Amino acid sequence: MARPRILITRRWPEAVEVKLAETFDVTLNTADTPLGRDALRDALGAFDAILPTVTDRIGPEVFDRPAIRTRILANYGVGFSHIDVAAAKGQSIAVTNTPDVLSDCTADLALTLMLMAARRAGEGERDLRAGAWSGWRPTHLIGTKVSGATLGIIGFGRIGQAVADRAHHGFGMTILVQNRSAVAPEVLARTGAAQVEAIDDLLPRCDFVSLHCPGGAANRHLIDARRFGLMKPGAFLINTARGEVVDEAALAEALEEGRIGGAGLDVYENEPRIPEALMAAPNLVMLPHLGSATRETREAMGFRVMDNLVDFFAGRTPRDRVA
Ligand code: DGY
Repeated sequence: MARPRILITRRWPEAVEVKLAETFDVTLNTADTPLGRDALRDALGAFDAILPTVTDRIGPEVFDRPAIRTRILANYGVGFSHIDVAAAKGQSIAVTNTPDVLSDCTADLALTLMLMAARRAGEGERDLRAGAWSGWRPTHLIGTKVSGATLGIIGFGRIGQAVADRAHHGFGMTILVQNRSAVAPEVLARTGAAQVEAIDDLLPRCDFVSLHCPGGAANRHLIDARRFGLMKPGAFLINTARGEVVDEAALAEALEEGRIGGAGLDVYENEPRIPEALMAAPNLVMLPHLGSATRETREAMGFRVMDNLVDFFAGRTPRDRVA
């Protein structure tokens, strides 16, 4: 039987590309630039599986073509709001993602941002490299204490829980949680967390707020100007989820006016474009979408995609099927 034809839309860790090529007829995007709408639409006619990432915008218009050959979109990443899942379903195309394997590293990065923003690490490093450090003094770059503070977590899935674990057991933080559904008492108990009903109840009680909910239309601008107004003065917002969850203009304004203490972002609404207002915003730490960017995790994500594909083409339900 012919091996399934698969397209990997960006370069992946070599170990995974090599392994995939042992089982599948693999086409690589050697240029490693994001595929446009036309290239994605053509791919749907030419490949049995497409292995996209967050840089591939697979909206309804991409599916608007005759003779679709693709049977599965095996996404490299846990978030899949860049894929119109309903449109894929409409064409009987399965969609999978890669949960679990990136929870630790994404949580590590959320803590990195929290510490960097609160302890003004970005500012300090920039000053030092610019030769602007005149030496130790009691009033230099005074930040905010993280240990013992209250952390609000919006979205208490695997990554949110991994953040709570680090924050509570590592930094003695009190954990408040807001989640769409009720969290099991034993899960909350692991970090002594309390669940609140609504985001509006959580924000005024937290020194730090970290976002771990899905992106997509339903959560677009979940944190907007009104909600920045509900945060404690001096509190910090951390976003390692999806850019669209935060209204970037409202964040820039809240920072500029000193309504919140600072923020740390790893994701943006129109990556890789960063609005000028954010570039200029004080006390904002920005990283270029590095949440899962460790060798161990990026390889594990690739092997997880491979497991999903092997199951799918063997007629089994892939364990990470989301549609
Ligand atoms: C994820 O896994 O969702 C990362 O943000 C990359 O897409």
